[in-house]
Amino acid sequence: MFNKHLLSLQDFNQPQLQTLLVRAMVLKEETRKGICQQPLTGKTICMLFEKASTRTRVSFESAMYSLGGQVIYLSSRDSQLGRGEPLKDTARVLSRYVDGIVVRTFGQEIVDELARYSDVPVINALTDLHHPCQVLSDIMTVIEKKGTPENLEIVWIGDGNNMANSWIQAASVLGFSLTLACPEGYEPDPEILSIARMKGSCPINVMYDPIEAIEDADVVSTDVWASMGQEEEADERIEIFKPYQVNKELLSRAEDDVMVLHCLPAHRGEEITEEVLEGAQSVVFDQAENKLHMHKAILNCLLEDAQQQA
Ligand code: CP
Ligand code: NVA
Repeated sequence: MFNKHLLSLQDFNQPQLQTLLVRAMVLKEETRKGICQQPLTGKTICMLFEKASTRTRVSFESAMYSLGGQVIYLSSRDSQLGRGEPLKDTARVLSRYVDGIVVRTFGQEIVDELARYSDVPVINALTDLHHPCQVLSDIMTVIEKKGTPENLEIVWIGDGNNMANSWIQAASVLGFSLTLACPEGYEPDPEILSIARMKGSCPINVMYDPIEAIEDADVVSTDVWASMGQEEEADERIEIFKPYQVNKELLSRAEDDVMVLHCLPAHRGEEITEEVLEGAQSVVFDQAENKLHMHKAILNCLLEDAQQQA
């Protein structure tokens, strides 16, 4: 049985995350074989997106349609949320119309509040603090290409942002060690880090030196230096983050067969070079594809569970 909502990875236990990973892989295999099961026929989700999205929006929509369901998409311009309607009213009203709510927004407190008042599952499709569905897709990619993460050196290089926070929680729950290299002042959220360290059994190291961090890495992941909502800091961040660029020289310090992840969209020439992003070690398009399979698994598991508990 799952938690009702998917707000952050730390809310789940290891078997639950493993179930999502396995389900996503089975659904991917079934898609390859042309097997088309539609367990969500008759179900509808509402996607409330207050930030831009290409991959997450289209993969969630495509996933829902493939599973037999329907989608209603609302940007902040379309809903009354943009005009100040309380979240608690929105959550209770939407719960009467749809079977799940997928939210992309700014503050984590927004998805938490929606979940508090929603009778149907709320799924976090990115906040300033977390990007849990993305990191599950990334771990699926790691497992497919390199096997179980417990046996790997997994390294995060760059901003201690929403992606970094979700990687930390994944490491804590799934039980693998993780090293992060971030500039001083741009470390991951300290509360998320301390809870993850307390609850997890494997080391989560945060350091400032990307060269030290990447030593012997099997997997290197990075992300933009200025996330959505931080656009005005972009120029300042370019100067601060320069030593954290994932380029050929930095990668030469990792294992020869190191695998490079980036959740995309990428800023070529900033956090990653064109050469590395397009190079043989990069798996970013397989990673992007896996969002589709993982989102199918998440919708399948959470919406089916909600139905059984109703
Ligand atoms: N990786 C990711 O979440 O991409 P989008 O912003 O395009 O959804
Ligand atoms: N950290 C990035 C991820 C985009 C998918 C952002 O929040 O903008």
